[in-house]
Amino acid sequence: MNLNLKNHSVAVIGAARGIGRAIADGFVAEGCSVRGFDRDKAADFITAGDVASYMALQDFAAEFESVNHVVFCVGIGSGKFGFPFWNLDPSDWARVLEVNLIGAVNVAHAFAPKLIKSGGGSMLFLVSVAGQMGSQTDPPYSASKAALINFTQCAAKDLGPHNVRVNALAPGMVKTELNHSIWAAGQKKRPESEWQSFDDWAAEKIKKVSHLGRWQMPEEYAAMATFLASDHAKNITGQTINIDGGQVMHA
Ligand SMILES: NC(=O)c1ccc[n+]([C@@H]2O[C@H](COP(=O)([O-])OP(=O)(O)OC[C@H]3O[C@@H](n4cnc5c(N)ncnc54)[C@H](O)[C@@H]3O)[C@@H](O)[C@H]2O)c1
Repeated sequence: MNLNLKNHSVAVIGAARGIGRAIADGFVAEGCSVRGFDRDKAADFITAGDVASYMALQDFAAEFESVNHVVFCVGIGSGKFGFPFWNLDPSDWARVLEVNLIGAVNVAHAFAPKLIKSGGGSMLFLVSVAGQMGSQTDPPYSASKAALINFTQCAAKDLGPHNVRVNALAPGMVKTELNHSIWAAGQKKRPESEWQSFDDWAAEKIKKVSHLGRWQMPEEYAAMATFLASDHAKNITGQTINIDGGQVMHA
């Protein structure tokens, strides 16, 4: 399928590794010009900064003469195990919301005027199945993703008349560093005799949550992100699209 994205200008926030890096590579493979933003300057195409800083994102947006597509791939957990929620302290919530939700809002504010000025385009937020089902693993993480799904719909309504489409992409269990921190936080809550290797923990969890019984891979999100940026998706906005092995099914 020809996506016709050649020479489009793309901003990928959270581009150093994992899903964000795969999405950046996916747009480059389509002939796009890609600039990334991440707290980790892992490559030359990345500007270093924290998404909690609106000023840093405004400076990053100013690097673009025009921009066609913006993808927000940052996400962090609390680093604690959430069963039950009082395992966490209320103060554990602030940083997760600041990065996962306010970070995305900062990106939307910094880039919306540029997308409008470019005559249209797309914005995509990486969310999670955790934001659709009251997942207990890490309540601030789940709540931040639920809020971002809601903001996606709000932004899609506001930006629709300007020909800017806004969607969310929800992974289930993807083979990236993020799952290592979830595994590590979970092991700390178990007696040492019950500790599992990462591979055993992942195999057990995947069997439980995925109807296809396999990991999702970062490249699958790149394929969907580039499709959603293309004109083939010109009538898709305000949607949350799950790539999750059927973990969450909506009627
Ligand atoms: N991996 C999964 O199984 C999974 C499942 C559901 C949802 N997601 C979501 O998908 C997205 C990508 O996840 P991933 O697995 O690639 O994660 P990852 O941890 O591998 O990568 C996240 C990237 O964000 C960057 N980052 C983190 N905090 C930042 C900050 N404050 N400012 C700037 N950059 C920052 C990191 O340096 C890293 O490059 C996230 O939004 C995550 O919540 C992932």
